[in-house]
Amino acid sequence: MKDLRWIVGLSSLEGLVLSGVNLSAVEVGLQTINMLPSLTRLELVGCGLFMNPHLSQVNFTSLSSLELGENNFNNYMVPPWLHNLTGLHDLGLSSNHLSGPIHGLFEQMTSLVDLNLGENLFDASTLKSLCNVSSLNYLDLSLNDMQGSIPSEIGQLSKLQVLDVSSNSLTGVLSEDHFAKLGELKSLNQSENLFALNVSSWWVPRFQLRDIMMSSIKVGLLFPAWLRTEKEVQWLDMQNASISDSIPSWFGVFCYEIYFVDFFNNNLTWNLLEFKQMKKSPPDGNSPSTVLKSNKLDGSLKSFPSYIYELDLSQNFLTGHIPLPDVGQTVASTIFLILSDNHFTSSIPEDLCKLENLKYLDLSNNFLSGRVPLCLGNLPDLLVLNLANNSLCGQIPSSLGNLGQLWILHLN
Ligand SMILES: *[C@@H]1O[C@H](CO)[C@@H](O)[C@H](O)[C@H]1NC(C)=O
Ligand SMILES: *[C@@H]1O[C@H](CO)[C@@H](O)[C@H](O)[C@H]1NC(C)=O
Ligand SMILES: *[C@@H]1O[C@H](CO)[C@@H](O)[C@H](O)[C@H]1NC(C)=O
Ligand SMILES: *[C@@H]1O[C@H](CO)[C@@H](O)[C@H](O)[C@H]1NC(C)=O
Ligand SMILES: *[C@@H]1O[C@H](CO)[C@@H](O)[C@H](O)[C@H]1NC(C)=O
Ligand SMILES: *[C@@H]1O[C@H](CO)[C@@H](O)[C@H](O)[C@H]1NC(C)=O
Ligand SMILES: *[C@@H]1O[C@H](CO)[C@@H](O)[C@H](O)[C@H]1NC(C)=O
Ligand SMILES: *[C@@H]1O[C@H](CO)[C@@H](O)[C@H](O)[C@H]1NC(C)=O
Ligand SMILES: *[C@@H]1O[C@H](CO)[C@@H](O)[C@H](O)[C@H]1NC(C)=O
Repeated sequence: MKDLRWIVGLSSLEGLVLSGVNLSAVEVGLQTINMLPSLTRLELVGCGLFMNPHLSQVNFTSLSSLELGENNFNNYMVPPWLHNLTGLHDLGLSSNHLSGPIHGLFEQMTSLVDLNLGENLFDASTLKSLCNVSSLNYLDLSLNDMQGSIPSEIGQLSKLQVLDVSSNSLTGVLSEDHFAKLGELKSLNQSENLFALNVSSWWVPRFQLRDIMMSSIKVGLLFPAWLRTEKEVQWLDMQNASISDSIPSWFGVFCYEIYFVDFFNNNLTWNLLEFKQMKKSPPDGNSPSTVLKSNKLDGSLKSFPSYIYELDLSQNFLTGHIPLPDVGQTVASTIFLILSDNHFTSSIPEDLCKLENLKYLDLSNNFLSGRVPLCLGNLPDLLVLNLANNSLCGQIPSSLGNLGQLWILHLN
């Protein structure tokens, strides 16, 4: 689009959404839109507003929703006229190369509910200045340039439901104070930072989280006892979280409710060698995944529920026979079964062929013996079959020739 002047005629306009329309060739684009004083909602996401979005006087002060994400502003500063939009509820400025101090910007925005500053270059002072915006429900400061520690005042944002500070370089220690009043919090993403969590074993958080994303921060050494009080968790990502402890038995008591559990790359041991608490099927439409790759699990595992979509127990010290799928009334929905790099012995159980939707089967680097079951050739969706580096013997069954979808076959 080259000319936007026609828009001035729309003097009653309250909502204007031009997201995805290329406005980079429009001269004085925002100035033109500024002639519409009744606007309450303006969305210009990804419009190529590569410019200093300057306004000497801002007219659309009735705006309650302003989305300017993905525009790559070239002056790296938050437009000063934003200060005057004190009635904003929603403000989106993600992916704009923005940096610089924004002191006081939010002081007057006492109705601000939803703030997305993700994928910019803001530093930790921004976080500090937001700790007073008590109306916030949603705060995204992911993928910025924040260093230093998180101010404990963030724990005063009592209406916060979603907090995302992931992928920054935040350091220091997060204590219970940082969560003091966060009773409404449902989704917490702190992944990919440098800080440590230090809370007591008796801590009972005020929140009931649904999504917990704490990969590559220091949660450990102990298994987080506070998880025991969290009854609504659906997503739990604690990859690479420096936990060196045994998985407590109470964890299994509710882990069937969590449809995504990822403890990749910790030092977990495991006393509870059964998924016996996981009898209940998950709600429809979920793809339950359990990833315990690269830990120190030993002992044997009798069975696993076949409604698990992905089970990855590779790079542990598991012994005994390959765990059997527990095929109940429901259709077996396991797609990924990854048990490589363990100490499993005996033969490959034919029961694995009951996993009729299996796409990825990796049993490599174990001590399996006996023959390759003929019935593996009956798994029509199999894409990857890796049985390498075991002690298998006998003929390779020609039924494997039925696997018309197969991409990768390792039998070495
Ligand atoms: C937007 O328009 C400008 C100028 O007309 C052009 O150079 C640019 O490639 C366009 N951007 C996209 C994403 O199409
Ligand atoms: C809006 O502000 C501009 C300055 O950017 C001013 O020239 C213009 O008169 C104002 N328009 C209306 C409709 O208020
Ligand atoms: C913002 O408001 C102040 C005081 O109401 C006014 O002096 C100033 O010109 C306004 N700035 C813009 C860019 O509209
Ligand atoms: C937050 O508000 C308090 C009291 O109103 C004030 O003293 C403090 O300077 C404010 N902090 C920030 C970072 O704006
Ligand atoms: C949480 O943060 C990580 C790291 O930035 C990111 O990959 C992931 O998409 C985020 N998850 C959600 C649900 O926002
Ligand atoms: C963790 O918190 C406890 C109790 O507040 C304190 O004694 C200890 O020094 C803290 N550890 C770290 C590493 O901050
Ligand atoms: C684990 O976290 C550390 C920081 O604590 C990071 O340097 C490293 O790259 C992460 N490793 C993986 C495999 O994610
Ligand atoms: C596991 O523990 C060892 C020390 O016993 C340590 O060197 C290693 O970094 C730990 N690994 C993880 C992923 O925490
Ligand atoms: C074969 O598997 C054994 C047992 O897991 C392992 O120690 C060894 O490194 C593996 N060899 C290769 C070549 O991967």
